[in-house]
This record gives sequence, C-alpha cells and structure tokens, in this order.
Amino acid sequence: MTPILEISNLAVERGNLRALWDVTMHVMPGERVGLLGANGAGKSTTLGAIIGLYPPLSGQIKFDGQPIERQPPSANVARGIALVPEGRRLFPEMTVRENLEMGAYLPEPRAALAAGLNDVFALFPVLKEKAQQPAGELSGGQQQMVAIGRAMMSRPRLLLLDEPFLGVAPLLVDEVVKALREISVRGVTVLLVEQNIHRALDFVERAYVIENGRAVLEGSRDALLNDKSFSSKFLGLD
Ligand SMILES: Nc1ncnc2c1ncn2[C@@H]1O[C@H](COP(=O)(O)OP(=O)(O)OP(=O)(O)O)[C@@H](O)[C@H]1O
Ligand SMILES: [Mg+2]
Repeated sequence: MTPILEISNLAVERGNLRALWDVTMHVMPGERVGLLGANGAGKSTTLGAIIGLYPPLSGQIKFDGQPIERQPPSANVARGIALVPEGRRLFPEMTVRENLEMGAYLPEPRAALAAGLNDVFALFPVLKEKAQQPAGELSGGQQQMVAIGRAMMSRPRLLLLDEPFLGVAPLLVDEVVKALREISVRGVTVLLVEQNIHRALDFVERAYVIENGRAVLEGSRDALLNDKSFSSKFLGLD
C-alpha cells in the first residue's frame, strides 16, 4: 500500500534559521499517528511544510505518492489535506457558522455546504446551538471544535491537528477526542501534534518523536510507553 503521506529527509528554514534538519516519516491511509516533541522541536513547522506554508530547503513530501513540497496550501487543500492550526486562528467577530463556511471555499465543498455543516453539527452538536454566535464568545474547547469543524468542511482525507487540546478544559478534551475518533472511523487519516503526551497516546496508534528538528524515534503506542528514554523524557511531564 502507498502511504498517504511520506516525508523524506525534510529540511526547512524559517527566517534564515534552520527549523527542521532531517525529518523522515510516513502515514498510511486510515492511520492515526502522533507527532510529539518539546517546545520548539519543529512540530508546527512540519505540519506547515506539509500544507505548503514553508517550501523546504531539501527533502520531499509526497501525498498519495505525488510530490507536493512545492505546492501552495490552496492546491494541497484541494488534494485533500486540511490543517487545524496552532492557536485555532478563528475569526472571533464572525459567527460560528461563518467560520465553518470559511473551510468550504473550494468549489466542491462549497456546492455541498449544507451537507458539510450537517456533518460538522453531527460531530459537535453544541456548534449547531451556537451557530449564530460570534466564535470569540465560545469557550476555548468550543472554539477548538469550530477550528476542527472548519477543517472538516474542506472534506479532507488527511487531517493535520496542531495541539488541539491546548487551552481546552479536561471534560471538553474528552469530547474532542471522541469527535476525532468519529472522524477517524469515517476514514479520515489523522496526524496529531500534541504536547499532552498521555492524551495523544490515548488516541494514536503510532507516533514519531521530533527533537531539535530531527525525527529521532518512532514506535507504536505500546512500544513508546515501554521505551525508557521516551518515558523519562516525556511521561510525567504532563
Ligand atoms: N515565525 C518564526 N520565524 C522564525 N523562526 C521560527 C518561527 N516560528 C518558529 N520558529 C523556530 O522554528 C523552530 C521550530 O519551531 P516550531 O514552531 O515548529 O516548534 P514546535 O515543535 O511546534 O513548538 P511548540 O511546541 O512551541 O509549538 C524553533 O527553533 C523556532 O524557534
Ligand atoms: Mg508548535
């Protein structure tokens, strides 16, 4: 089987400083994979490079076997990749519904807007109740739901999530995880960046660890939980 995402020896510079040195990883269709690491390790840069925000210095990114590392974000969204960015990046003055509709800017999702909204409201029923409210009035967890919903409006096959549990109350984290499971059951492949290692390992089947811009460790959830260097570094931190 061809990986849905394959990254080889990726190196990325941000503002003349090297952010990634050597990231190699892959994700198979339908998998739930984690990308873990400390502050500044390069997790967000990796997701940004996949969606097309940072053209790499060297290395390759393939989606469905096709090189995409020189493609703009709009082309990658059209291919079926969606990013839920760090810090959500909603338009706080716009309503929940308007924020969701922003995710459906391409012709196909736009034509199926009502169906897309229904799917998001099925995942997050509270968003249906709050559809006409400014997004900025919602709690942190509910805003995260809007950000995930907006990404789902583009009908992705690969969903990239950048720290979706950050600033979300524990009870709402449970709800977000439940929705991510449902998204996964619907056949969407998920790549999850998280600093909340326990929560992340609860959800993913497999994960990569990134350190100083390098992918240094990969393993199944159980292998990582039993890995001494992994547990001494990460477990007990959150
Ligand atoms: N806007 C920027 N301009 C220049 N360098 C940046 C910028 N944002 C991040 N960097 C640098 O790129 C490297 C990787 O940062 P990145 O944001 O990808 O890490 P991260 O793993 O997502 O960290 P965090 O857990 O804090 O979100 C770091 O050395 C960081 O200082
Ligand atoms: Mg980050």
